[in-house]
Amino acid sequence: MSKIEILKISNIPPVYLDDLHANYTVHDAARLTDRSVLQRVRAITGGGDCKVDAALLEQCPKAEIVSVFGVGYDGVDVQAAKSRGLVVTHTPDVLNDEVADLAIGLMLSIARKIPQADRYVRSGQWAKAAFPLQRKMSGAKLGIVGLGRIGNAIAKRALGFDMQISYTSRSPKADSPYTYYSDAKSLAKAVDFLVAITPGGEGTKGMINAEVLQALGPNGFFINVARGSVADQPALIHALQNNLIAGAGLDVYYDEPAIDPAFFSLENAVVTPHMASATFETRRAMADRALQNLSAHFEGKPIPSPVPECL
Ligand code: NAP
Ligand code: 8YV
Repeated sequence: MSKIEILKISNIPPVYLDDLHANYTVHDAARLTDRSVLQRVRAITGGGDCKVDAALLEQCPKAEIVSVFGVGYDGVDVQAAKSRGLVVTHTPDVLNDEVADLAIGLMLSIARKIPQADRYVRSGQWAKAAFPLQRKMSGAKLGIVGLGRIGNAIAKRALGFDMQISYTSRSPKADSPYTYYSDAKSLAKAVDFLVAITPGGEGTKGMINAEVLQALGPNGFFINVARGSVADQPALIHALQNNLIAGAGLDVYYDEPAIDPAFFSLENAVVTPHMASATFETRRAMADRALQNLSAHFEGKPIPSPVPECL
């Protein structure tokens, strides 16, 4: 029997791609020589950064499922997919620990300036003078923008650092022991570390704007492990260049991976390449979930992780 044909629309790691090839005929949208395959594909897949709009769906009339290799699906027009009868799936939960670990890593890195200290030692400066004193993270105030699966995993870790935890989201979480603020600006004013971990998309676009950064102030650190779009990036670069905030730990940006070169010279930022879920263990678990979503759909079984709009 011939394999089901699927369309890959963004870069995905070998851990997922190899298994896709083993089970399906995979067409790479970036290398299509024969566009008629679009008429045949029954699934579309890509990473959390992938774009699936109404125009693409129109070109793939036989597509039944969009399987996102990631928890965020802000690039997928879910309503357009639903209106054409497709189901959209993602990989929640299996990456909570990893993303929370990186958030804490970025907080410690920028508070204690660990990458900067590493550069200091390697460039021989230690022999000339001691590295400047830095900021204590234990016991500090943490504000989480988006207390969902990953936000809660960050909070759990922060409790180990005796941090005082507050959060904002569109509505208070009834079962949460942490202090609720109704908006990011009032939360920013109250904390030392502000961590963004909401979904991307229109609902959160530019949420961390100049006013929020001003409220965070010159002693406050901003961490973004959500999506680049959640922060107003020109405002963030301006705040960092003018020391309007103490520093930033960033995993996500506008226009990845060709990010604004202004970040390269900011000594008060620690920048990582959208790698929060990028470990062997977690990418394996994400690949397994994305593959299970596809196989369950094609076998007519209950799909493990449809996005909430498709439940
Ligand atoms: P989740 O469980 O759905 O949590 C998202 C939280 O954001 C919810 O608590 C939600 O609460 C809140 N939220 C949504 N819209 C908001 C708004 N406009 N203002 C304030 N809060 C808002 O999602 P998750 O699994 O924790 O993942 C969160 C996001 O992390 C993903 O969507 C993805 O963008 C990002 N992520 C990044 C990486 C990376 O590699 N850097 C890896 C994984 C995930 P309310 O509904 O009450 O507002
Ligand atoms: C991945 C992510 O880096 O899950 C998400 O939303 O952004 C990350 O885990 C991405 O999905 C891989 O492309």
